[in-house]
Amino acid sequence: MKTDRRKFSKTISKIIPLGLMTPVIPIATSCESNQIGPEKSLTIASPEAHDELIAGESFTLLWTSNSVENIDIAYKVDNASSWLTIEREYPASTGSYTFDVFRNINGKVLTFRISDALDNSFSNNGTPLKIIFKFEINLDEYPQLKEDGGLVEFDDGSTDPFVIQNIGSNNFRSLSKVCTHQGCVIDLQGNSGFGCPCHGSQFNIDGTVTKGPAERDLDEIRLEKVDDSNLIAYV
Ligand code: FES
Repeated sequence: MKTDRRKFSKTISKIIPLGLMTPVIPIATSCESNQIGPEKSLTIASPEAHDELIAGESFTLLWTSNSVENIDIAYKVDNASSWLTIEREYPASTGSYTFDVFRNINGKVLTFRISDALDNSFSNNGTPLKIIFKFEINLDEYPQLKEDGGLVEFDDGSTDPFVIQNIGSNNFRSLSKVCTHQGCVIDLQGNSGFGCPCHGSQFNIDGTVTKGPAERDLDEIRLEKVDDSNLIAYV
């Protein structure tokens, strides 16, 4: 994350056991600051769309506030109807809250909400972000990936399915197997590419879409080469 965390006067860091979180009654509507009073405000500054929430790593939620003394911090997963509170009556003036991104979560998109502790209807929701998992690959376990053109599918259910290809000279490419049309899992069709069983989209082996209804190429998965034997895919 690009924001300089040193400028904040106080941060706290803790691992939050999911089982200990307290459900809160969902609110029907979040009030915008200008609906309450012009001098009162509460806005989440980070995460933004370009930020990454990496499972197991720390992330700092940032906000700005005015005329709010304490806030409650909550989150929801995917399109859940309830918010789960992770911190109550936290001093709004700190402007930041550092936490460890959940590893095992029953869903993949996280949205944060901060609200006035005295009036939870005065709140601001952050940008929904997909949690990214670090998937470690030891190439010694996948001899196919040591050959030019070799390809391995990863589909153990722990992440969205994806493939890794050796594209020559010990370079690799990783592609999501989630169809860019409506999210079905695509099938590998030999060396010729991928096909979607739902509506027939076709993709080249490099992920380029060749037949609709999908309108864009497969998503590329970020790969990090740790050393000659180990890769990390950020899925
Ligand atoms: S979901 Fe793949 S073509 Fe529609």
